[in-house]
Amino acid sequence: MTKTNQKKNIEVISSNPPKGRKKQNARHPLKVVIVGHVDHGKSTLIGRLLYDTDSLPEGKYEELRAICDRRGTDALEWSFVLDSFQAERDQAITIDSTQIWFSTDERDYVIIDAPGHREFLKNMISGAAAADAAILVVDGTEGVQEQTRRHAYLLHLLGLQQIAVVINKMDMLGYEPEAYDKVVREVKEYLGSLNIVPRFIVPISAREGDMISERGENMDWYEGHSLIKVLDSFEIAPAPISLPLRFPVQDVYRYEERRIIVGRVETGVLRKGDVLQFAPGDEQATVQSIEVWPENPDKIEAKPGESIGITLDQRLFVERGHIGSHVENPPMLSNVFRASLFWLAHKPLKVGNSYKIRYAKHEAMVSVQSIDKVIDTQDLSDDSKSGEVVRNAVAEVTLRARDMLPIDPYSDNPQTGRFVLYENYDIAGGGVISMEGYADQRRNAPKAQNVEAVDHIITQELRAKKNGHRSGIFWLTGLSSAGKTTLAMAAEKILFEKGINVSVVDGDNLRVGINKDLGFTPEDRAENIRRTGYVAQMMAEAGNVVIVSVISPYRADRRRIRDRVEGLYHEIYLSADLDACESRDKKGVYKKARDGKIKDFTGIDAPYETPANPELMIDTQNNDIDFCVKQLVEYIEAQIAPGDLSDDSQAKEQILDYVL
Ligand code: ADX
Repeated sequence: MTKTNQKKNIEVISSNPPKGRKKQNARHPLKVVIVGHVDHGKSTLIGRLLYDTDSLPEGKYEELRAICDRRGTDALEWSFVLDSFQAERDQAITIDSTQIWFSTDERDYVIIDAPGHREFLKNMISGAAAADAAILVVDGTEGVQEQTRRHAYLLHLLGLQQIAVVINKMDMLGYEPEAYDKVVREVKEYLGSLNIVPRFIVPISAREGDMISERGENMDWYEGHSLIKVLDSFEIAPAPISLPLRFPVQDVYRYEERRIIVGRVETGVLRKGDVLQFAPGDEQATVQSIEVWPENPDKIEAKPGESIGITLDQRLFVERGHIGSHVENPPMLSNVFRASLFWLAHKPLKVGNSYKIRYAKHEAMVSVQSIDKVIDTQDLSDDSKSGEVVRNAVAEVTLRARDMLPIDPYSDNPQTGRFVLYENYDIAGGGVISMEGYADQRRNAPKAQNVEAVDHIITQELRAKKNGHRSGIFWLTGLSSAGKTTLAMAAEKILFEKGINVSVVDGDNLRVGINKDLGFTPEDRAENIRRTGYVAQMMAEAGNVVIVSVISPYRADRRRIRDRVEGLYHEIYLSADLDACESRDKKGVYKKARDGKIKDFTGIDAPYETPANPELMIDTQNNDIDFCVKQLVEYIEAQIAPGDLSDDSQAKEQILDYVL
């Protein structure tokens, strides 16, 4: 009774979805995962649910009875049901996910299961098993165990809201309410620390059938509903039509003269006539037709879950992995983001390692920039000192890609905001994306039109000749209290006294003036650095030596300035770690940040991205100020030495042209 649904690559075990009798809503079953510690009774519960709801495949019960008789066990071993499914499964091709159907009077259910623990976790993480609800099975005689905690954490990570906890094996506890209460307290304490409030906690005996479909007679003291009633009260997640449109491109086919962009609508609604763009690109085109098979010229819209092809009125650069969206609501773009992940591979995840990331058909290489937190799921402590994430651990990490990736944080879009990491074609881990601390790097199209930058007649060479030195931007970056302003001001004085046109552009000074309207969100910092960069550029192009002193915590923001003023820009990293900076804390800002009085403080609860290849690094942690100032001044002097200035006759001629 095994049938393979090749399209979805999912195996459907058992004779269900049910035909006839209870067919309520077979096309929209509620998807349930059953999790819990090994031997706490998951398989028994599944067998029991199938039996009690009359959903066992034909002949299965008799088969089971015969096995038990042969083994001389009187009571039925419900977990044999799963074992026999497993045997069927073993003969089938290896498949991602297994579905076991059952139905109540109210509706149909599908239990998402997998042959092994690891496969199950893979399915959970990759979303192959996007469940509507979860049952967390806890053995009442053992209470919360290692995998109870780990699985609960996974439910928390994936944001599953509809959770029922069952306290199993109540028969072995003599159906005692005191014993039940004790386990319930333990469960609530752990779940509470994860901010999970289970909708229901039900005492059951999967083996004996108490409180599964019927209440039974053994636990009258329990006032709540039986498990089936609880499940019937859960809701099927509505198709995410209200989210912004996400149409990840699976492929682009050429069919006669037409280009058909094929993919599946993940969220939102795609309509004929919509103007779309395909991230990471920003060119736009209008949907001319929606192509489906069999052909349907009347097809004017496609909803989540529909696999379609579309044609556009213009030829855009679109390829597999690009994400189609409406123009008003595109995914973010970033080459760096944070992730909460569950690690499955034997080889630990380490800083600097590269992996293939995959989400919403998008694939790219990413490297681990930092491991920000390793969470011990047993006591939720931070375990990041080891600098690696071992198998079965949960962590928060920062990942970086070479190019811009289209990104939806999981909190905005659960469909496209979850990812899987591969190492050598095998799933190594997975989790959910967060952009906390990072800005969308999509640049707004310029508002002003019909403007064109004009060239100067006075060249850099002419200015250098007049001043006796070249100009340049000496960009000091580092944590607050790393010594940026101190070094900048001291170097300015020394260079000024040597007759150099030098000026400091200090972050704080700009923030009380031109940048007064900006705060410390990632977006505001990006704007702060953009403007600071332009101010420095103007001053440097006027012939000055400009020493800039701003935290500028993001590589991308600094990179943009380097790209724009290539040749003038020198990145100087003032290296001092957080402890050293915090112990200086002249302005008392770290203390305020620690006390929660300043939010998003760099190094505390906002990132600082150390420069990968600065032109100069000054170690302000292990050297005194004089030494560091000297290092800075010497570097600047070497860079601004006039050297061989080229012949300026051409520029002079230009001046004449201009004057005449
Ligand atoms: S940047 O990140 O945008 O480059 P910038 O160098 O301009 O920062 O500003 C840093 C100054 O703002 C420091 O004087 C620091 O004490 C103060 N400040 C106030 N709030 C914050 C914050 N949340 N993070 C960092 N610095 C802050």
